[in-house]
Amino acid sequence: MRHFLNPLDFSVEEIDQVLSLAEQIRENPEHYAHVAEGKKLATLFYEPSTRTRLSFESAMLNLGGKVLGFHSENSSSAAKGESVADTIRVISCYADIAAIRHPKEGAPLVAAQFSRIPVINAGDGGHQHPTQTLTDMLTIRTLKGRLENLTIGLCGDLKFGRTVHSLINALSRYTGIRFVLISPEVLRLPTYVIQDVLEAKKIPYRETTNLEEALPELDILYMTRVQRERFFSEDEYLRLKDSYILDKAKMKLAPKDMYVLHPLPRVNEISVEVDDDPRAAYFLQVQCGVYARMALIMTLLGLTPTA
Ligand code: NCD
Repeated sequence: MRHFLNPLDFSVEEIDQVLSLAEQIRENPEHYAHVAEGKKLATLFYEPSTRTRLSFESAMLNLGGKVLGFHSENSSSAAKGESVADTIRVISCYADIAAIRHPKEGAPLVAAQFSRIPVINAGDGGHQHPTQTLTDMLTIRTLKGRLENLTIGLCGDLKFGRTVHSLINALSRYTGIRFVLISPEVLRLPTYVIQDVLEAKKIPYRETTNLEEALPELDILYMTRVQRERFFSEDEYLRLKDSYILDKAKMKLAPKDMYVLHPLPRVNEISVEVDDDPRAAYFLQVQCGVYARMALIMTLLGLTPTA
């Protein structure tokens, strides 16, 4: 039985296969509309979410499967003190596959150790968010036609942004990738990611606080929200929340084929006036998320179309 807790749980070949399957599903959704009939996905969300949970549910429904679950800690037995280990043992009797989001780093890994069904990490604290990464990779492949030889700018909260950590992990296995890390000093990428991933794999990167200066050299700009819920002090959050605001004027500094991604939700970091720019790709990204999750569910459950 396979789980998907970190993008590195799959080899590069396996990731590429999932992305290719997602592209086939996008070409011909009808062909896949019944592959998960009789199967159930449980969404166990201990943290708020709109996109990720509904995207998983939409993905399973699109495959002809069914969904069940809870959408907050308070509406589950966690409020009574049940452990993640016990919850997943119980859910293993109700569903065929589970997607778990949890504020504590490592909670999906604990769940996987006690689970009888495949577990997908739908975001754990400030750690990893591997299905957002599949989404991001599918979007980049759709827009750029490749995952190699790209300069990727990551901008905003690189410290707590789990989508950033997972994306760096995943892309660092492709050739010719360079990262420009754009953040305020106090929200820099954690040392463990710099040392264990970028330095260990000799991936070229540079750190800067200046978005304008970085823009002209980027193929992809990945904007992120300052992660309010992970701050110890509200004052610190207020001081940092508007560190970067991408607007029309800044987009003039960017190449014509530099696409803007954002995992959403957006707060202020991308001005709504950018939405009409043909390089704004964050809503396309949402659509890619459904196909990527459909392909992942099929892969983990070993589902194939009949004809
Ligand atoms: C991201 C997350 O939850 O980490 N959102 C998402 O899953 N689409 C990013 C964020 O919350 O800022």
